[in-house]
Amino acid sequence: MKKTKSIWGNPPKRLYRLIDLAENNIGKDFTACIVGCSDGKFLLPFARKGIKVTGYEVDDTALYGGNKDFPIIKDNEIFSYSEDFVSKEYEVENKHVCGIIERIEKEQLTKYVNIEKRDFYKNVPKEKFDVVFTSCSLHYSLNIQFTSKEKMEKLQSIVSDGGYLYVDYMMAIDEKNTDRYPFNKYFRKGEMRKYFDDSWKIISLIEKNEPTFERAHVERTRDHFHRFGYVLAQKIK
Ligand SMILES: C[S@@+](CC[C@H](N)C(=O)[O-])C[C@H]1O[C@@H](n2cnc3c(N)ncnc32)[C@H](O)[C@@H]1O
Repeated sequence: MKKTKSIWGNPPKRLYRLIDLAENNIGKDFTACIVGCSDGKFLLPFARKGIKVTGYEVDDTALYGGNKDFPIIKDNEIFSYSEDFVSKEYEVENKHVCGIIERIEKEQLTKYVNIEKRDFYKNVPKEKFDVVFTSCSLHYSLNIQFTSKEKMEKLQSIVSDGGYLYVDYMMAIDEKNTDRYPFNKYFRKGEMRKYFDDSWKIISLIEKNEPTFERAHVERTRDHFHRFGYVLAQKIK
């Protein structure tokens, strides 16, 4: 079966390390959930291994496919962060993209996957999962009404006892600038740790001090910077 591709590229190695961790500690029949599964970048690797995985997503193009603008990039120049950085303007080309449903059908993975159109943070499901994963969904404007604490509690509430929660999150580049980096969207250093009480064991928590350069891409067609944080925790009580 030919593998299909996500418009967001390939998942990082830490996703495969998480799958191995859950297989070794819970067993090969663990269940997984991707909150904000987009076109399946982080979901298909579970299904390809025969793991039952649920994906929640609100965006119709990510679910069913459609057209998106991609910047046309001809050089590899990397820039250092400065507050007044201005990206060059790229020409864009409008291309058809596959949604997650089509990718799953093409790879014949439907029996392992359950996709639901659901605004997760407004409408938290009752079902629990052994692995809950979200990459950069917390900061979306559609979730602005919830504090970071509330969103983290919602994610934690769907993790089974002994299960794992993995979150990639955006941090404020300028921690004092609350207009550009509102608290409900961007984490401050040390903040994430406070949202895990003693029913959790933090396995790893990495918070970058410096912004990372990111080339223009689909949905953000100017070069830009992000400051990332990553947390992996296990529910122990
Ligand atoms: C940034 S994308 C994930 C893929 C990502 N580009 C990457 O490479 O890490 C995050 C996804 O979360 C979805 N999302 C954000 N808030 C959501 C919510 N409340 N319910 C469901 N999906 C949500 C967005 O629609 C988006 O597709």
